[in-house]
Amino acid sequence: SDEFELTMALSEKMEITNVMEYEKIAKEKLPKMVYDYYASGADDEWTLQENRNAFSRILFRPRILIDVSEIDVSTRVLGFNISMPIMIAPTAMQKMAHPDGELATARATSAAGTIMTLSSWATCSIEEVASTGPGIRFFQLAVYKDRDVVRWLVKRAEEAGFKAIALTVDTPRLGRRESNIKNRFSIPRGITLKNFEGLDLAKIYKTNNSGAGSYISGQADQSFSWKDIKWLQSITSLPVLLKGVLTAEDARSALEYGSAGIIVSNHGARQLDYVPATIMALEEVVKAVEGRLPVFLDGGVRRGTDVFKALALGAAGVFVGRPSLFSLAVDGETGVN
Ligand code: FNR
Repeated sequence: SDEFELTMALSEKMEITNVMEYEKIAKEKLPKMVYDYYASGADDEWTLQENRNAFSRILFRPRILIDVSEIDVSTRVLGFNISMPIMIAPTAMQKMAHPDGELATARATSAAGTIMTLSSWATCSIEEVASTGPGIRFFQLAVYKDRDVVRWLVKRAEEAGFKAIALTVDTPRLGRRESNIKNRFSIPRGITLKNFEGLDLAKIYKTNNSGAGSYISGQADQSFSWKDIKWLQSITSLPVLLKGVLTAEDARSALEYGSAGIIVSNHGARQLDYVPATIMALEEVVKAVEGRLPVFLDGGVRRGTDVFKALALGAAGVFVGRPSLFSLAVDGETGVN
């Protein structure tokens, strides 16, 4: 197809030597509306720039004459052995990047021996992802006003063998991403939010006749607060990670409310703009939990040296978002791998 030839021509032109180059190729390949949806941040995109810039202000104090002939980067996350401290963050609607969508990401992640987090807003269902074969997977959850929907999603994730819930706590409402407004972003025809198929359609259309997408975003429970964490823990035996913590105060609350871990995240700078880069917020969170919880980080991680900086500042591992989307767009499962 034309699209395939374009990809081939572009990748022949450029030897890919780092994950950022996938973004350049994906930008030429993807429809503008889709590229902008993936790439954009909120408001002025100050935090988006800062997520990268902050890494470049952190320098190493290299020590010499240490035997490094044998290196093992494998690690343990929530008791699971993984090949490297790099995992896949949940990102919505991967079929916009590639027809295989989340299935390709799941296969590539399992082959690489690490963990994938599936977005609630995926274009392949929990069950489809599970059917790609064995793998250690987390399920990303948002809390909806209709708690039956939450129970239903959590139960399905449990039954499909997912190992943890990553509860997104930085999205009581969606960030303002101006390019999406300008492009009049809408989910392309033929793609659906598969995890919500099977919801009572009559109920959806009664609430909002513009369809499942806006029904679901309108369903985010803006009253959800710390006390409800207990409720979530009461309906599942899976560990609950809090994704989107940026302060010591909230890290201490996470401890108090029995969270299984913290993901220091600013949602890839797509939510509140002018929050610090995650690598800048990491230290205070690590200090606050005093080793009683694993602390992970996502946001702007693009190189091995970024991963090392996060580990050196106390992270137990990192997650990547956009690199997996852009490599999926360019080269499907192989790209993500
Ligand atoms: C996201 N992210 C996200 N987070 C979440 O909890 N649920 C979701 O559905 C999504 N969807 C989503 C879509 C897209 C296009 C992006 C770029 C991001 C945030 C994601 O999990 C993660 O926090 C960031 O992507 C990490 O930053 P980097 O690696 O993209 O810089």
